[in-house]
Amino acid sequence: MVNVPDKLTAIGNHNSVYSDVVKEFVCEIKDDEFLRIRNYLYMESGIHLGVDKKQMMATRLASRLRHFNVHTYSEYLRLVMDGDHDEEKQEIVDLLTTHETYFFREPAHFDFLRERICENWEYGRLFRAWSAASSSGEEAYSMAMVFSEHLPQNYWELVGSDICREVLEKARAGYYPVEKTQNIPVNYLSQYCLKGVRSQNGVMLIDENLRKRVQFIKVNLNQSFEGFLGMFDVIFLRNVLIYFDLHARQQIVHRIVEKLNKGGYLFVSHTESIIAISDRLQQVAPSIYQKI
Ligand SMILES: C[S@@+](CC[C@H](N)C(=O)[O-])C[C@H]1O[C@@H](n2cnc3c(N)ncnc32)[C@H](O)[C@@H]1O
Repeated sequence: MVNVPDKLTAIGNHNSVYSDVVKEFVCEIKDDEFLRIRNYLYMESGIHLGVDKKQMMATRLASRLRHFNVHTYSEYLRLVMDGDHDEEKQEIVDLLTTHETYFFREPAHFDFLRERICENWEYGRLFRAWSAASSSGEEAYSMAMVFSEHLPQNYWELVGSDICREVLEKARAGYYPVEKTQNIPVNYLSQYCLKGVRSQNGVMLIDENLRKRVQFIKVNLNQSFEGFLGMFDVIFLRNVLIYFDLHARQQIVHRIVEKLNKGGYLFVSHTESIIAISDRLQQVAPSIYQKI
Protein backbone atom coordinates (compact mmCIF):
# COMPACT_ATOMS: atom_id res chain seq x y z
CA MET A 1 0.00 0.00 0.00
CA VAL A 2 1.34 3.41 -0.90
CA ASN A 3 0.21 6.76 0.32
CA VAL A 4 -0.95 8.70 -2.72
CA PRO A 5 0.18 12.36 -2.55
CA ASP A 6 -2.40 14.67 -1.01
CA LYS A 7 -3.28 16.47 -4.23
CA LEU A 8 -6.52 15.34 -5.78
CA THR A 9 -8.92 16.94 -8.12
CA ALA A 10 -12.33 15.41 -8.77
CA ILE A 11 -12.01 12.23 -10.76
CA GLY A 12 -14.84 10.32 -12.30
CA ASN A 13 -17.36 10.48 -15.05
CA HIS A 14 -16.85 13.84 -16.70
CA ASN A 15 -20.52 14.18 -17.49
CA SER A 16 -21.98 13.09 -14.19
CA VAL A 17 -21.60 16.52 -12.60
CA TYR A 18 -24.16 17.99 -14.94
CA SER A 19 -27.05 16.13 -13.40
CA ASP A 20 -26.58 18.28 -10.28
CA VAL A 21 -26.39 21.46 -12.29
CA VAL A 22 -29.52 20.58 -14.20
CA LYS A 23 -31.64 20.57 -11.10
CA GLU A 24 -30.55 24.11 -10.41
CA PHE A 25 -30.58 25.81 -13.77
CA VAL A 26 -31.31 24.66 -17.29
CA CYS A 27 -32.75 27.17 -19.65
CA GLU A 28 -34.54 26.16 -22.79
CA ILE A 29 -32.44 26.05 -25.95
CA LYS A 30 -34.17 27.26 -29.13
CA ASP A 31 -33.80 25.42 -32.44
CA ASP A 32 -31.62 28.10 -34.06
CA GLU A 33 -29.36 28.23 -30.98
CA PHE A 34 -29.02 24.46 -31.01
CA LEU A 35 -28.13 24.52 -34.71
CA ARG A 36 -25.45 27.20 -34.28
CA ILE A 37 -23.73 25.31 -31.51
CA ARG A 38 -24.13 22.01 -33.33
CA ASN A 39 -22.56 23.49 -36.49
CA TYR A 40 -19.69 24.92 -34.51
CA LEU A 41 -19.03 21.53 -32.88
CA TYR A 42 -19.17 19.81 -36.27
CA MET A 43 -16.78 22.28 -37.92
CA GLU A 44 -14.36 22.05 -35.03
CA SER A 45 -14.40 18.34 -34.21
CA GLY A 46 -16.33 16.47 -36.91
CA ILE A 47 -18.80 15.32 -34.26
CA HIS A 48 -22.35 15.21 -35.50
CA LEU A 49 -25.14 15.72 -32.94
CA GLY A 50 -28.62 14.60 -33.99
CA VAL A 51 -31.66 16.70 -33.07
CA ASP A 52 -32.39 14.21 -30.30
CA LYS A 53 -29.33 15.66 -28.51
CA LYS A 54 -30.93 19.08 -28.00
CA GLN A 55 -31.77 18.47 -24.34
CA MET A 56 -28.36 16.92 -23.73
CA MET A 57 -26.73 20.09 -25.10
CA ALA A 58 -28.88 22.35 -22.91
CA THR A 59 -28.07 20.24 -19.87
CA ARG A 60 -24.33 20.10 -20.43
CA LEU A 61 -23.94 23.80 -21.25
CA ALA A 62 -26.18 25.04 -18.44
CA SER A 63 -23.25 25.63 -16.12
CA ARG A 64 -21.65 27.96 -18.67
CA LEU A 65 -24.70 30.23 -18.79
CA ARG A 66 -24.57 30.39 -15.03
CA HIS A 67 -20.82 31.07 -15.15
CA PHE A 68 -21.35 34.10 -17.41
CA ASN A 69 -24.56 35.09 -15.68
CA VAL A 70 -26.54 35.12 -18.94
CA HIS A 71 -30.05 33.77 -19.31
CA THR A 72 -30.39 32.70 -22.93
CA TYR A 73 -28.23 30.70 -25.32
CA SER A 74 -28.34 33.62 -27.77
CA GLU A 75 -26.62 35.85 -25.21
CA TYR A 76 -24.09 33.07 -24.53
CA LEU A 77 -23.42 32.61 -28.26
CA ARG A 78 -22.92 36.34 -28.75
CA LEU A 79 -20.37 36.32 -25.99
CA VAL A 80 -18.50 33.28 -27.25
CA MET A 81 -18.70 33.43 -31.04
CA ASP A 82 -18.88 37.18 -31.70
CA GLY A 83 -16.31 37.83 -28.99
CA ASP A 84 -14.05 35.16 -30.51
CA HIS A 85 -13.60 33.63 -27.07
CA ASP A 86 -11.21 30.70 -27.77
CA GLU A 87 -11.08 29.41 -24.18
CA GLU A 88 -14.85 29.18 -24.06
CA LYS A 89 -15.00 27.48 -27.48
CA GLN A 90 -12.73 24.79 -26.08
CA GLU A 91 -15.09 24.56 -23.09
CA ILE A 92 -17.99 23.83 -25.47
CA VAL A 93 -16.03 21.00 -27.10
CA ASP A 94 -15.01 19.64 -23.68
CA LEU A 95 -18.60 19.63 -22.47
CA LEU A 96 -20.24 18.22 -25.59
CA THR A 97 -17.87 15.30 -26.12
CA THR A 98 -18.58 11.96 -24.46
CA HIS A 99 -15.70 10.46 -22.50
CA GLU A 100 -16.88 7.12 -21.25
CA THR A 101 -13.95 4.72 -21.03
CA TYR A 102 -12.47 2.08 -18.76
CA PHE A 103 -9.36 -0.02 -18.26
CA PHE A 104 -8.98 -3.06 -20.55
CA ARG A 105 -12.18 -2.24 -22.41
CA GLU A 106 -12.82 -4.92 -25.06
CA PRO A 107 -10.26 -7.33 -23.58
CA ALA A 108 -9.84 -9.37 -26.80
CA HIS A 109 -7.92 -6.38 -28.21
CA PHE A 110 -5.39 -6.58 -25.40
CA ASP A 111 -5.02 -10.36 -25.90
CA PHE A 112 -4.28 -9.72 -29.59
CA LEU A 113 -1.86 -6.94 -28.70
CA ARG A 114 0.03 -9.22 -26.31
CA GLU A 115 -0.05 -12.55 -28.15
CA ARG A 116 0.01 -11.57 -31.81
CA ILE A 117 1.96 -8.32 -31.76
CA CYS A 118 4.19 -7.82 -28.71
CA GLU A 119 5.32 -11.42 -28.31
CA ASN A 120 6.35 -11.56 -31.99
CA TRP A 121 8.02 -8.16 -32.09
CA GLU A 122 11.52 -8.22 -33.49
CA TYR A 123 13.99 -7.64 -30.65
CA GLY A 124 15.69 -4.26 -30.79
CA ARG A 125 13.20 -2.63 -33.16
CA LEU A 126 11.43 0.44 -31.71
CA PHE A 127 7.69 -0.11 -31.28
CA ARG A 128 5.41 2.96 -31.41
CA ALA A 129 1.73 3.02 -30.44
CA TRP A 130 -1.00 5.67 -30.31
CA SER A 131 -4.23 5.77 -28.34
CA ALA A 132 -5.92 8.24 -30.67
CA ALA A 133 -8.98 9.24 -28.61
CA SER A 134 -7.64 8.36 -25.22
CA SER A 135 -10.18 10.20 -23.06
CA SER A 136 -8.97 10.19 -19.43
CA GLY A 137 -6.15 7.73 -20.13
CA GLU A 138 -7.50 4.31 -19.12
CA GLU A 139 -6.99 2.92 -22.63
CA ALA A 140 -3.44 4.23 -22.96
CA TYR A 141 -2.41 2.99 -19.51
CA SER A 142 -3.91 -0.44 -20.28
CA MET A 143 -1.73 -0.55 -23.41
CA ALA A 144 1.28 0.66 -21.42
CA MET A 145 0.88 -2.19 -18.90
CA VAL A 146 0.92 -4.74 -21.72
CA PHE A 147 3.95 -3.12 -23.38
CA SER A 148 5.83 -2.82 -20.14
CA GLU A 149 5.31 -6.52 -19.49
CA HIS A 150 5.93 -7.85 -23.01
CA LEU A 151 8.34 -5.50 -24.79
CA PRO A 152 11.94 -4.63 -23.94
CA GLN A 153 12.11 -1.67 -21.56
CA ASN A 154 13.58 1.01 -23.82
CA TYR A 155 12.09 -0.07 -27.11
CA TRP A 156 8.53 1.22 -26.97
CA GLU A 157 6.85 4.61 -27.10
CA LEU A 158 3.21 5.45 -26.47
CA VAL A 159 1.23 8.59 -27.24
CA GLY A 160 -2.28 9.25 -25.91
CA SER A 161 -4.32 12.06 -27.44
CA ASP A 162 -7.72 13.66 -27.27
CA ILE A 163 -9.48 16.84 -28.34
CA CYS A 164 -10.69 17.52 -24.80
CA ARG A 165 -8.36 19.46 -22.54
CA GLU A 166 -9.97 18.36 -19.29
CA VAL A 167 -9.65 14.61 -19.90
CA LEU A 168 -6.02 15.06 -20.97
CA GLU A 169 -5.28 16.69 -17.62
CA LYS A 170 -6.89 13.75 -15.83
CA ALA A 171 -4.89 11.31 -17.96
CA ARG A 172 -1.59 13.05 -17.18
CA ALA A 173 -2.40 13.04 -13.47
CA GLY A 174 -3.17 9.30 -13.51
CA TYR A 175 -5.56 9.21 -10.54
CA TYR A 176 -8.61 6.95 -10.78
CA PRO A 177 -11.35 5.83 -8.41
CA VAL A 178 -10.59 2.33 -7.17
CA GLU A 179 -13.90 1.06 -8.59
CA LYS A 180 -12.51 1.73 -12.07
CA THR A 181 -9.67 -0.75 -11.58
CA GLN A 182 -11.78 -3.92 -11.54
CA ASN A 183 -10.84 -4.98 -15.09
CA ILE A 184 -7.11 -4.60 -14.57
CA PRO A 185 -5.45 -8.05 -14.34
CA VAL A 186 -4.22 -8.73 -10.80
CA ASN A 187 -0.54 -8.97 -11.71
CA TYR A 188 -0.71 -5.55 -13.44
CA LEU A 189 -2.62 -4.08 -10.49
CA SER A 190 0.09 -5.03 -8.06
CA GLN A 191 2.86 -3.85 -10.35
CA TYR A 192 1.58 -0.60 -11.83
CA CYS A 193 -1.17 0.72 -9.55
CA LEU A 194 -0.71 2.41 -6.19
CA LYS A 195 -3.58 2.23 -3.78
CA GLY A 196 -4.32 5.36 -1.76
CA VAL A 197 -4.57 5.13 2.02
CA ARG A 198 -6.02 7.40 4.72
CA SER A 199 -7.22 10.62 3.06
CA GLN A 200 -6.65 9.01 -0.36
CA ASN A 201 -8.68 5.94 0.42
CA GLY A 202 -10.67 4.87 -2.64
CA VAL A 203 -8.16 6.34 -5.09
CA MET A 204 -5.62 4.60 -7.30
CA LEU A 205 -2.57 6.27 -8.83
CA ILE A 206 -0.75 4.85 -11.84
CA ASP A 207 2.84 4.20 -10.89
CA GLU A 208 5.15 7.07 -11.83
CA ASN A 209 7.47 4.90 -13.95
CA LEU A 210 4.56 3.88 -16.14
CA ARG A 211 3.03 7.37 -16.20
CA LYS A 212 6.31 8.79 -17.50
CA ARG A 213 6.19 6.40 -20.46
CA VAL A 214 2.94 7.83 -21.87
CA GLN A 215 2.91 11.22 -23.49
CA PHE A 216 -0.56 12.82 -23.53
CA ILE A 217 -1.08 15.57 -26.10
CA LYS A 218 -4.00 17.40 -27.65
CA VAL A 219 -4.75 16.16 -31.17
CA ASN A 220 -7.91 16.99 -33.09
CA LEU A 221 -8.61 14.01 -35.34
CA ASN A 222 -10.64 16.31 -37.56
CA GLN A 223 -7.58 18.34 -38.54
CA SER A 224 -4.41 17.46 -40.38
CA PHE A 225 -1.72 15.91 -38.20
CA GLU A 226 0.96 16.09 -40.83
CA GLY A 227 4.34 17.17 -39.61
CA PHE A 228 4.08 15.87 -36.06
CA LEU A 229 3.43 12.61 -34.22
CA GLY A 230 5.60 10.44 -36.47
CA MET A 231 4.65 6.94 -37.61
CA PHE A 232 3.09 4.12 -35.57
CA ASP A 233 2.97 0.32 -35.46
CA VAL A 234 -0.34 0.21 -33.57
CA ILE A 235 -3.15 2.75 -33.43
CA PHE A 236 -6.23 2.42 -31.21
CA LEU A 237 -9.13 4.46 -32.63
CA ARG A 238 -11.89 3.02 -30.52
CA ASN A 239 -15.35 4.28 -29.62
CA VAL A 240 -14.90 7.60 -31.34
CA LEU A 241 -15.85 7.00 -34.99
CA ILE A 242 -19.48 6.57 -33.94
CA TYR A 243 -19.68 10.30 -33.21
CA PHE A 244 -18.78 11.32 -36.77
CA ASP A 245 -20.84 11.30 -39.95
CA LEU A 246 -19.63 9.22 -42.91
CA HIS A 247 -17.68 12.08 -44.50
CA ALA A 248 -15.72 12.92 -41.33
CA ARG A 249 -15.21 9.21 -40.60
CA GLN A 250 -13.67 8.64 -44.05
CA GLN A 251 -11.35 11.64 -43.74
CA ILE A 252 -10.20 10.58 -40.27
CA VAL A 253 -9.55 6.95 -41.21
CA HIS A 254 -7.53 8.06 -44.27
CA ARG A 255 -5.41 10.38 -42.15
CA ILE A 256 -4.91 7.66 -39.52
CA VAL A 257 -3.87 5.10 -42.14
CA GLU A 258 -1.21 7.57 -43.35
CA LYS A 259 0.29 7.43 -39.86
CA LEU A 260 0.49 3.62 -39.77
CA ASN A 261 3.66 1.82 -40.82
CA LYS A 262 3.18 -0.87 -43.46
CA GLY A 263 2.16 -4.03 -41.58
CA GLY A 264 0.94 -1.90 -38.64
CA TYR A 265 -2.39 -2.50 -36.92
CA LEU A 266 -5.48 -0.34 -36.49
CA PHE A 267 -7.97 -1.22 -33.74
CA VAL A 268 -11.52 0.15 -33.76
CA SER A 269 -14.36 -0.77 -31.43
CA HIS A 270 -16.32 -3.99 -31.97
CA THR A 271 -19.36 -1.83 -32.66
CA GLU A 272 -17.62 0.12 -35.46
CA SER A 273 -16.76 -0.98 -38.97
CA ILE A 274 -14.32 0.57 -41.42
CA ILE A 275 -14.35 -2.18 -44.02
CA ALA A 276 -15.62 -0.02 -46.87
CA ILE A 277 -13.51 3.01 -46.00
CA SER A 278 -9.94 2.09 -46.92
CA ASP A 279 -8.54 -0.40 -49.41
CA ARG A 280 -5.17 -0.19 -47.67
CA LEU A 281 -6.46 -2.12 -44.67
CA GLN A 282 -7.07 -5.82 -44.39
CA GLN A 283 -9.15 -7.23 -41.55
CA VAL A 284 -7.17 -9.72 -39.46
CA ALA A 285 -9.56 -10.23 -36.51
CA PRO A 286 -12.90 -8.72 -35.45
CA SER A 287 -12.39 -4.92 -35.41
CA ILE A 288 -8.61 -5.25 -36.02
CA TYR A 289 -7.06 -4.21 -39.35
CA GLN A 290 -3.56 -4.44 -40.77
CA LYS A 291 -2.08 -1.98 -43.26
CA ILE A 292 -1.08 -3.72 -46.50
C1 LIG B 1 -16.05 7.51 -25.76
S1 LIG B 1 -14.42 8.14 -25.61
C2 LIG B 1 -13.49 6.71 -26.11
C3 LIG B 1 -12.27 6.52 -25.24
C4 LIG B 1 -11.44 5.27 -25.54
N1 LIG B 1 -10.90 5.31 -26.88
C5 LIG B 1 -12.22 4.01 -25.33
O1 LIG B 1 -12.54 3.33 -26.29
O2 LIG B 1 -12.56 3.71 -24.18
C6 LIG B 1 -14.32 9.17 -27.07
C7 LIG B 1 -13.23 10.23 -26.96
O3 LIG B 1 -13.03 10.78 -28.25
C8 LIG B 1 -12.70 12.15 -28.09
N2 LIG B 1 -12.94 12.87 -29.36
C9 LIG B 1 -14.12 13.20 -29.93
N3 LIG B 1 -13.93 13.87 -31.07
C10 LIG B 1 -12.58 13.99 -31.23
C11 LIG B 1 -11.76 14.61 -32.21
N4 LIG B 1 -12.26 15.24 -33.27
N5 LIG B 1 -10.41 14.52 -32.05
C12 LIG B 1 -9.88 13.89 -30.98
N6 LIG B 1 -10.62 13.30 -30.02
C13 LIG B 1 -11.95 13.35 -30.14
C14 LIG B 1 -13.61 12.60 -26.95
O4 LIG B 1 -13.14 13.79 -26.34
C15 LIG B 1 -13.60 11.39 -26.04
O5 LIG B 1 -12.66 11.51 -25.01
